Amino acid sequence: MTRRPSLTLARLTLASLTLASLILARLALAGVLLAGLAGAAPALAAPLSYELPDETAGFRPGPGVETAQNNCAVCHSADYIATQPPQMGPAFWDAEVQKMIKVYGAPIDAADAKTIAEYLARTY
Ligand code: HEC
Repeated sequence: MTRRPSLTLARLTLASLTLASLILARLALAGVLLAGLAGAAPALAAPLSYELPDETAGFRPGPGVETAQNNCAVCHSADYIATQPPQMGPAFWDAEVQKMIKVYGAPIDAADAKTIAEYLARTY
């Protein structure tokens, strides 16, 4: 079979035209996206000012509060503590502190854990 250069050329031309139109379509799409971004940019750059709500999730005052604050607020707010049922007593709070250490990996030494459990039992 003999090759027909003209046909091959026609195919090549068709292929490159298809490619070119694909590229053009991509560029057009990118242009639309860029234009959209440019339109959104001023809104993004505008200075925002807002009032933070009052801090309601602080630790209640009492002996040992700093130790609790320093160790327990690392992962979550004091809300987790304040939303527990009131007056659960030392055994509950001791177990809670131990759970934070053993289950969730809180790096709290034994002396601090005791201080915190006592503070929580007394204060919550
Ligand atoms: C290493 C991270 C970490 C530290 C530090 C930590 N906690 Fe937690 N705590 C968690 C995670 C995780 C949960 C579970 C969150 C959930 O279930 O959505 C949790 C949940 C709680 C809860 C909700 C009840 C429960 O048992 O799930 C209480 C109460 C609590 N923590 C108290 C404390 C106290 C007190 C301390 C300080 C001694 C403390 N946490 C320190 C990670 C931590």
